[in-house]
Amino acid sequence: MLPAAPVRMVECPAQDPIGIAVHRTSACERPAAVRARNDGWDRLHYASSVMSDSRIRVSVPGRHLRPLLGEVSERIDAVVRSGRWLKGPETGAFQTTFASYCEVDYCLGVGNGTDGLELALSAAGARGGEVITVANAGGYTTTACRIVGATPVYVDVLEESLVLDPTTVEPMLGPQTRAVVVTHLFGNLADTAAIRGILAAAGRSDVLIIEDGSQAHGATLNGRKVGSNGDMSVFSFYPTKNLGALGDGGAVLCRNAHTAEHIEALHQYGWTSRYESSIPYGRNSRMDEIQAAVLNVKMPYLDEWNAERRSIVRRYSQAIRGSGLKMVTESHDGAVAHLAIVRTADAARLRNHLDTAGIDTDVHYPRLDFEQPSQSGLPDRRGALINSVAARGEIVTVPCFPGMTDGEVDRVAEALASFDGSTR
Ligand SMILES: Cc1ncc(COP(=O)(O)O)c(C=O)c1O
Repeated sequence: MLPAAPVRMVECPAQDPIGIAVHRTSACERPAAVRARNDGWDRLHYASSVMSDSRIRVSVPGRHLRPLLGEVSERIDAVVRSGRWLKGPETGAFQTTFASYCEVDYCLGVGNGTDGLELALSAAGARGGEVITVANAGGYTTTACRIVGATPVYVDVLEESLVLDPTTVEPMLGPQTRAVVVTHLFGNLADTAAIRGILAAAGRSDVLIIEDGSQAHGATLNGRKVGSNGDMSVFSFYPTKNLGALGDGGAVLCRNAHTAEHIEALHQYGWTSRYESSIPYGRNSRMDEIQAAVLNVKMPYLDEWNAERRSIVRRYSQAIRGSGLKMVTESHDGAVAHLAIVRTADAARLRNHLDTAGIDTDVHYPRLDFEQPSQSGLPDRRGALINSVAARGEIVTVPCFPGMTDGEVDRVAEALASFDGSTR
């Protein structure tokens, strides 16, 4: 094992992207092997360079972790010492806690959200069939569809919230429709109950509903928790999510014991017992104990962090009143402001304006799924995607994350308010 270089944790200013400034007593005290391994990466210089940088990032996932670092380190240390790194007590505890939080009976930790979508589609019997979904949600469902050999069928989104418009589902149902993936976007929930009603009225209750709650952990709509409305639901715990791990992680949830057993088998080689592979198309995708331990530490704070995100978006909403800009996030009570999305016909000018004010922006997402080069030539079906197409090119993601300082929120709010959003 390599000897550890002396490390001291210090309080750091808000702009540190990791949220932890690690000061080594001297860069040259690092063992040569560590220096070689880091290939020139000098954390001392890195930390000091970000300290003088007052730009506001879109997301700093380490910021809200700072007060919990001691606990996180202890839990990780305990996992390392336990020798139980997969399928252990941390994963078991997380599965129980998250199932109960989402008000469902079963939760299985998996490697990441995209794997979760693939497993859910596979369990829904989507292989070789069609899957109805939206085209503006980053391509994760499309990726999973391609892996299971399902054809994506794209329907439109609502103009206000940019989540799936239930009224666009029925015209796209076909004999091969196996599932609808309802992607909750930017913290806004789509109306899964309305989609279920539409499927029932069309005599298609055989079509399964899979919720993708990866951008909406903890959100509610009409008193129902995200993840509890579909036949299955999927979550990603990518670090920037409302509930994020220190790497990749995901989960698939459901209410039905038979479905739970099916997914359980699919996520580990199709095993129904050790070394007995009985279910076709199994693969390997497991949550690891370290990620589960981190999620167990963070879980009790999720509602608090969601409230913080909401208050940031509310501040922006107030600031842009009358400016010609529109806030897409927070379209309903119980939304959780995963991303703060501003809409304007002049997105490039807004991004430039914010950049000049030292504020980073992003776009979620710049292309619809079928516009990606990887999808060219692959089969899909499309409804009239009027709102999806209109919004693409008009949305700008601005900073929003728990732990943002009041000063940072004010700076973003003031920069938004000072933008002339009238169409030129
Ligand atoms: C809505 C949505 N679904 C699925 C995923 C995929 O999750 P992962 O990155 O964990 O595979 C993401 C994001 O990362 C997402 O935002």
